[in-house]
Amino acid sequence: MCGIIGYAGNRNAVPVIVDGLKKLEYRGYDSAGIAVFGADGFDVVKQKGRLAALESRLEGSVIAGNVGIGHTRWATHGEPSDVNSHPHVGSKSKIAIVHNGIIENYKRLKERLERKGVRFVSQTDSEVIAQLAEYYYKGDLMDTVIKVSGALEGSYALGIMCLDEPDLLVAVRKDNPLIVGVAEHGNFIASDVPAVLKHTNKVYYLEDGEIAVLTKDGADFLNMDKEPLKKRLETVSWSFDSAEKGGYPHFMLKEIMEQPKVLKDTIHSVMSNGENKSVADGLDISAFDKIVITACGSAYNAGVVAKYVFERLCRVSVEVELASEFRYKDAVIDGKTLVILVSQSGETADTIAAMREAKSKGAVTLSIVNVIGSTIAKEADYCLLTSAGPEIAVATTKAFSAQLVLLYVLAARFAVKLGKLPPESFAELMSEFETLPDKAKEIFEHIDLIQKHASECVVCKSIFFIGRNIDYAIALEGSLKLKEISYIHSEAYAGGELKHGTISLIEEDTLVVAISNCKRLYGKIMSNVEQVISRGAKVLLIGCCPEAEPSSYDGKLSYIGLPEITELFSPSLSVIVLQLFSYYVAANKGLDIDKPRNLAKSVTVE
Ligand code: AGP
Ligand code: GLU
Repeated sequence: MCGIIGYAGNRNAVPVIVDGLKKLEYRGYDSAGIAVFGADGFDVVKQKGRLAALESRLEGSVIAGNVGIGHTRWATHGEPSDVNSHPHVGSKSKIAIVHNGIIENYKRLKERLERKGVRFVSQTDSEVIAQLAEYYYKGDLMDTVIKVSGALEGSYALGIMCLDEPDLLVAVRKDNPLIVGVAEHGNFIASDVPAVLKHTNKVYYLEDGEIAVLTKDGADFLNMDKEPLKKRLETVSWSFDSAEKGGYPHFMLKEIMEQPKVLKDTIHSVMSNGENKSVADGLDISAFDKIVITACGSAYNAGVVAKYVFERLCRVSVEVELASEFRYKDAVIDGKTLVILVSQSGETADTIAAMREAKSKGAVTLSIVNVIGSTIAKEADYCLLTSAGPEIAVATTKAFSAQLVLLYVLAARFAVKLGKLPPESFAELMSEFETLPDKAKEIFEHIDLIQKHASECVVCKSIFFIGRNIDYAIALEGSLKLKEISYIHSEAYAGGELKHGTISLIEEDTLVVAISNCKRLYGKIMSNVEQVISRGAKVLLIGCCPEAEPSSYDGKLSYIGLPEITELFSPSLSVIVLQLFSYYVAANKGLDIDKPRNLAKSVTVE
């Protein structure tokens, strides 16, 4: 889950790499490190903690060089410490590497090398790569990279430097992302596009088993038989500004505020002619007798919302599975199953594995992904791209909203094809759908109110979220958002389920957030509200509830109203309030909102 970057060019690699690492820190922040070629070999500086700690160390040092590699770590093997930080250099000080991934057979390789007298200094799996490369190295770096790749089991994206080839930067990958950026002053490797956007929007996407060889003048590509490869240089539409905070205190707030535009762009992408529309139009839903949606975390929650929408509109039953469970459950699927994979990064290891499992069983796969060129975008049979732009905050907001939009349209189109939704009703639904961006904007008018409620929750030990039907689905996301950035314990429950156990946790002043947009279930959710209030809870009601009368609850009920919209699209409005609520709770607690503890944005390991 780490971020790696490398540079070969005319500039001093140190500030270029540190700057790029800032854009990759969302991938991990246990430690950071950098290596460049100095006058007497590798100059390596690495430091436990955030990138800022590495920057302070670098301030006092004079290391410089035109070729270098850098790393920001999310530890999988070995505690976060200086010695376990990357880059790792072999004991002969000949080869330095940065690694993203997990080497599953590292113990075996390590023991073999130790028997041959190699001395390891770290507890990481990654060090074995540097040591093995030195062991194999007989003067030809390409041969070494090929041999090392053949010996490693697991996943890796690697940046490699060799003392005998001080102008070269080599990269190779298996199951972890890697791009090659081509700029005027030099060339880059990186785990993700934002790391190079300041310098270029021209990138190559490296595939598994391909080797990239970079110098300051260009990038060449080889396969594992050392044959040259011709790759397509792609132009990324993301701008540099989109990966900057733009005056906001946190990326998360900026990304929340961008949602009206993201909704508009994503709606446009699927309603007007283009790739997304032709994919959504082209799929013959009648060819399937089953739909399975599989994903992790928030993307899974988008799937739960979608289940309600698909079932309501299409009258087909939909299964939603956590990708980490789906991959091992020997799912009952076949060529008549459509498996929908939802992922912001397109690189989540469990979702990739679920996709491959689905494909191996003959199912048709459709991905909904934000990162162009990512593994899930490329490998799924069909792909719909969300138009959210780069999402930097670890907690997803705008990408989640864009996923919902694509899922709604897909459901509505499928419903028409299945004859469950007359074309006139589709048109009506879509014109309501197009009001979403403006209604989302209206929510920002109540930001002070949301902030006020959030400021009162800083002391809460636990917060419960309840809803019924589609409101329950979005409660799941509200709860996840709160716990991931505010560290307050939280659970989401279907309103009707409370009485089966959870209600025992309600005590004086427990906060319950109730979501209510399903008009037909308003009375039911309000009964749940009464039940918890009569046991001492305070309730924050969020939704479109014109009948709500907070004044008749002795100060125990507060209400944040939402613009009116059809029940099916209401999660897109509720979630913005829930995101802002979580954001302000965390901000009031003074937490590191964009980089919550223990989390990383792209979970490329199991
Ligand atoms: C989002 O706020 C979470 N950090 C996390 O649940 C995330 O949604 C999950 O890891 C899936 O990531 P993906 O969308 O990149 O596949
Ligand atoms: N396994 C390596 C380590 O712990 C890299 C981790 C990763 O890419 O997530 O250092």
